[in-house]
Amino acid sequence: MGEHVVKMIEEEEVGRRIVEIAEMINKEFEGESVFIVCVLRGAVFFATELAKRITVPVTIDFMQLSSYGAKTVSSGDVRMLHDISLSVKGENVIIVEDIIDTGYTMDSLRKLFSQRHAKCVKLCCLLDKPDRREMEVDVDYTGFTIPDKFVVGYGLDYDQRYRNLPYIGVVEFD
Ligand code: IMP
Ligand code: MG
Repeated sequence: MGEHVVKMIEEEEVGRRIVEIAEMINKEFEGESVFIVCVLRGAVFFATELAKRITVPVTIDFMQLSSYGAKTVSSGDVRMLHDISLSVKGENVIIVEDIIDTGYTMDSLRKLFSQRHAKCVKLCCLLDKPDRREMEVDVDYTGFTIPDKFVVGYGLDYDQRYRNLPYIGVVEFD
């Protein structure tokens, strides 16, 4: 079965929204520093663009979680494939994710970093699909709230493809 991608959010619009989110973070953490946890691989484009716009001191580390494989539905079972290597003790942690779907990923990460004695744990996602939420999560910074469609681009993949699209698009199956 083939598929094609229909543009949903233009690159420029994503860029503008990232500047706004960075401004919120700069204001909230004025005089402090932030520790960005980038969730690989999907959040890498978003996290680097965001970090470039943050003016308070920034540390970045990376963590990788289990992915969907070639499917488009979440298993609800979040496994860590690679942990960050720095300590977050006393840090203002901002977990940066590509998309919140069922909410299991963000919920488990917030708990994990609270247990590691971060000073605070903020959740930041480029996209939010609230219609599919199974786990209630309080998201601190959201780029765009979108309908229940499978999206790709700006880091998001379908079966490891389309991450490099500079815009966000919806996958339509032929
Ligand atoms: P959650 O734990 O169900 O909230 O899953 C979030 C993760 O599912 C994201 O980090 C993505 O890797 C993946 N995901 C959810 N929806 C989409 C989508 O529309 N496109 C690509 N990946 C998605
Ligand atoms: Mg992901």
